[in-house]
Amino acid sequence: MQLSIQPINRSFAIEICNWRYEPPYDIYNWGSPPDEETLRSILDPAFAFHAIVNAEGELAGFCSFGIDGQVPGGDYGADALDIGMGVRPDLTGRGLGTTFATSVVDFASRQYAPQQLRVTIATFNKRAQRVWEKLEFKKISEFHSEKSNVPFVILVRIL
Ligand SMILES: CC(C)(COP(=O)(O)OP(=O)(O)OC[C@H]1O[C@@H](n2cnc3c(N)ncnc32)[C@H](O)[C@@H]1OP(=O)(O)O)[C@@H](O)C(=O)NCCC(=O)NCCS
Repeated sequence: MQLSIQPINRSFAIEICNWRYEPPYDIYNWGSPPDEETLRSILDPAFAFHAIVNAEGELAGFCSFGIDGQVPGGDYGADALDIGMGVRPDLTGRGLGTTFATSVVDFASRQYAPQQLRVTIATFNKRAQRVWEKLEFKKISEFHSEKSNVPFVILVRIL
């Protein structure tokens, strides 16, 4: 699957909000239809949301770089670029996770030249952890979210 990464736009942001993941991944569902505040935050350059598109220009996933990928309660003292990522629901569970993540890692390395990449993942989400571990991300800490008390893990990859 040929993927490219480009800055998000409003119509892609609306599509993402309308995606629906099945349980237990429905915690990643956005509000549908999205309100203006949600769209504003997805389009806010501070969160660096990007669209992941296929060869036909269709939205296949999204990623974010920086603070959006952090969960309150985690230790983010080290200098690292945080990555958030979501694959379009109908494309999940088909063994494409590392293809998406590789595109995102390559893009992040070119665009931001960070020393380290970091992802924060809900502990229950073994599927997501497996994807990043296959790309040589290593678990460095575990914590409970300040807001929800949900357990999370932090993984990093030194570049
Ligand atoms: C997380 C996500 C990127 C993973 O991509 P994916 O294409 O669905 O994942 P894959 O189908 O490639 O599966 C990845 C691995 O997890 C394994 N896996 C699948 N379900 C699993 C489960 N319940 N427990 C453990 N491993 C599981 C697969 O077997 C595969 O491992 P393998 O390559 O060694 O066989 C994607 O599912 C997604 O965007 N999900 C919704 C949002 C989300 O979870 N976000 C988390 C933040 S990254």
